[in-house]
Amino acid sequence: MSTVVATAPVLVIEGLTVGYGGVPAVRDLDAKVHAGEILALLGPNGAGKTTTMLAAVGAIPVMSGSITALGEPLDKRVERNARRGITLVPDNRGVFHKLSVSDNLRLAHRKGGADVDVVFEYFPKLRGLRGRKCGNLSGGEQQMLALAKALLPRPKVLLIDELSLGLSPIAVKDLLPRLRNIADEQQMAIVLVEQHIDLALAIADSAIVLHHGRVALSGPASELSAQREKVEAAYFGRVDGPNDEVAAAAE
Ligand SMILES: Nc1ncnc2c1ncn2[C@@H]1O[C@H](COP(=O)(O)OP(=O)(O)O)[C@@H](O)[C@H]1O
Ligand SMILES: [Mg+2]
Repeated sequence: MSTVVATAPVLVIEGLTVGYGGVPAVRDLDAKVHAGEILALLGPNGAGKTTTMLAAVGAIPVMSGSITALGEPLDKRVERNARRGITLVPDNRGVFHKLSVSDNLRLAHRKGGADVDVVFEYFPKLRGLRGRKCGNLSGGEQQMLALAKALLPRPKVLLIDELSLGLSPIAVKDLLPRLRNIADEQQMAIVLVEQHIDLALAIADSAIVLHHGRVALSGPASELSAQREKVEAAYFGRVDGPNDEVAAAAE
């Protein structure tokens, strides 16, 4: 697990308020992620996790606050941000079900990007599934393909929404440590939305618990792990406002 890094964070979210049709779904969110760090974004359904992820790649406009990625304000165009290395794996995974694994990977390949052999090192099972139609893969295999596709352009900030949606606990336990390796070895900043709180905290550096669009708790993952009942209370909305004690410890 990475230790404290002296470099500037690659993703800085300050006072973010964002929503739909003028109605905020997320209010006043602060977050920072350095290269090689994993931030777990936790919270129940409707808490504002996906909204935060969409805002972080420029897919929806912010209402107030700011998002800075790789030292520059986020662009209003998703494609521009993607080209700069800010990539989202959406909760529907964004794989083409009618295409083979190989063709999915070929479409994701970019000039100057990673070699497909590099992503096969993280997901060796995909190598043997190259000729298989994506629609015939298991949920875990499809998620591996989605992650492999996202890694090919060598993103600097990788956001993964609902990694474990539709996956068995075994598949999740198998995938999460690989994300830790990817963050460490590729010095990639990862923002992870994950329902399995303990598994997420075990591989993350820091975590934010959202409830009803507000930060209910945030801090280093190790501290949150050690205060499980506090995390649960925040998750289910039994804590009012941000927890200053834990938030301060994160500084
Ligand atoms: N396209 C949309 N239009 C209007 N409201 C939306 C839209 N998407 C999400 N919301 C609302 O925003 C809030 C946060 O949703 P979301 O970010 O998807 O939560 P989560 O990902 O944590 O489940 C919810 O109240 C949801 O109903
Ligand atoms: Mg969501």
